[in-house]
Amino acid sequence: MRQRLQGVGGIRKLRGMEELIYVPGAVATLTVNRPKALNALNRAVLEGLAQVLSEIRNDNAVRVLIVTGGGDRAFVAGADIAAMAEMGVSEGLEFGRLGHAVMSAIEDLPIPVIAAVNGFALGGGLELALACDLIVASEKARFGQPEINLGIIPGFGGTQRLPHRIGHARARELILTGDMFDAKTGLEWGLVNKVVAPEQLLDEARKVAEKIATKSGFALRQAKAALRAASTMEEDAGLRFEQNAFGVCFGSEDRVEGMKAFVGKREAKWQHK
Ligand code: CAA
Repeated sequence: MRQRLQGVGGIRKLRGMEELIYVPGAVATLTVNRPKALNALNRAVLEGLAQVLSEIRNDNAVRVLIVTGGGDRAFVAGADIAAMAEMGVSEGLEFGRLGHAVMSAIEDLPIPVIAAVNGFALGGGLELALACDLIVASEKARFGQPEINLGIIPGFGGTQRLPHRIGHARARELILTGDMFDAKTGLEWGLVNKVVAPEQLLDEARKVAEKIATKSGFALRQAKAALRAASTMEEDAGLRFEQNAFGVCFGSEDRVEGMKAFVGKREAKWQHK
């Protein structure tokens, strides 16, 4: 039976499931909250994420989403190893498909998504961050794809998204050695957008989100789609995609308003359409 989101003072939890906390709003926050297992992703958490993401997708009031981890040690330390230890081939395949569906649902959200990485982002945790548009990291964050140490490989998109973000040489080394890297290294490699003190992480992520939320939602959607084409299409097709997305902007009320406001030397009032 499909679970409904419960409203409790603006904070919503999935009925019967305490491991995801969703706070809706123009800047919404989604927290994977299994701190005792370093927020590892099991089937229930992935299914909960899929459900919340589908609700967010259909909620025009949400302009930017921040994804983070509960507690002070981990963003997400990967897929749940205890659960995977019990899986055979068909369960492993299904688990991988579910993880992929969740990561694609994040990547396909029409709104910008910011990962606020507060600690370990390993395996499925790094893959979750890679599905987001921006990464703001605490100085304590540690990233890696350590799956090789478990006799498996990255299974929620890491072999594809990591090389796109940090280049093939670095991604190969990380996936083949299982080594971790810190937030400062992630910044140098262009994976991480900002590194901040742990106590400033959520404020800083929110500051970036609020700045983005003041822009036209219509234009943001086109920008996100065109940027995504840069990693999923050949350059020629991507350039054509951009031409179309640019043209589509000219059909929006926000484009008319944005240009009128500039000429009239006033702030634009976006309708997000
Ligand atoms: N799955 C399940 N439980 C996990 C977990 C995971 N991925 N990561 C940590 N935990 C649990 C530990 O089992 C431990 O539970 P108990 O207290 O019940 O023993 C608890 O979280 C705390 O962890 P540690 O005691 O290990 O903490 P530590 O500080 O000594 O080490 C760590 C921290 C280096 C992150 C270590 O926990 C670790 O190596 N975790 C596994 C990381 C990993 O391999 N991730 C990839 C998983 S595979 C994957 O993600 C596949 C994919 O691509 C989809």
